[in-house]
Amino acid sequence: MKVTAQIPATVANLGCGFDCLGLALPLFNTVTVEETVLPGTGIEINIIDKDNKNDISNIPRDKNNIVYKAIELLYNYIGQSPNELKISIMTEIPVARGLGSSASVIVGGLIAANELLGKPADDAVLLSIATEIEGHPDNIAPAILGGVVLSDWELDGSVCAKRLPWPEDWVVTMCIPDYELSTGISRSVLPAEVPMKDAVYNLRHSAMFVQAVHTKDRELMKLSLKDKLHQPYRMKLVPGLSQIMNELKHVDGVLGCVLAGAGPSIAVIQDGTKDDTIKDIVSTAWNNINVDAQIYTMPVYNEGAKIIV
Ligand code: HSE
Repeated sequence: MKVTAQIPATVANLGCGFDCLGLALPLFNTVTVEETVLPGTGIEINIIDKDNKNDISNIPRDKNNIVYKAIELLYNYIGQSPNELKISIMTEIPVARGLGSSASVIVGGLIAANELLGKPADDAVLLSIATEIEGHPDNIAPAILGGVVLSDWELDGSVCAKRLPWPEDWVVTMCIPDYELSTGISRSVLPAEVPMKDAVYNLRHSAMFVQAVHTKDRELMKLSLKDKLHQPYRMKLVPGLSQIMNELKHVDGVLGCVLAGAGPSIAVIQDGTKDDTIKDIVSTAWNNINVDAQIYTMPVYNEGAKIIV
């Protein structure tokens, strides 16, 4: 028996919500999990890059693979171990670009394996296992639930995730440069401690973010999409980011411009679809420093990960 899951891309942080806010986008990976019938065949992991745009050569094909590790935790949860498993990953979400590709495959492997096992785990267990593997819940939660999600990770490992009522006409322009930036490198430039005034700044802005989406308040949203906890430290890893953020501030319809997750992509949150000006500004800034990019405008995707076969 085999099961295939489809999982959306996600953008984490959204400026003020470092490690706790994220949204899903209509761009997908698929993960197929198959319990092989022949005993002794062990674990087989295949990865296919749909558009041949990513370097997938360094992704482990053994028990160190994060999808396998997540599935192993699920089996352990029901007191079993996976013995014979074939995992096939089809990637369409750009890898190491800030679009939650690792969260998507972790979630895909988990929900496919959960289906194979007769659904022993509910969303709360899946959220908790996936977050343990990923290290933060902000991509995992919207990958599972869809939409815009606020998530909390408690010390006991439990995750509380709540969807926020995102206005339909607030869309996202994703500016995806042609180079990779690993989350590990992007987290390594963050300080272990931050000044109290910066922590309070983000606290205020994330509270405003939640109120802005509940009341569809464009001006409050514009005010809220700011951050002092991660973007300032990561600027040096994403050439052009500071200039692009400054120029987009003056574009009609732009509610804010944020680093997508750990970068290097940039997400522009906008009211309506005036993407030509945004595209021109971003591509000119990046062309000047020899960075090619793909730029697409898309709505927030309101469905989460699902079983498709
Ligand atoms: N919140 C995480 C970070 C997202 O910014 O490092 C990484 O995908």
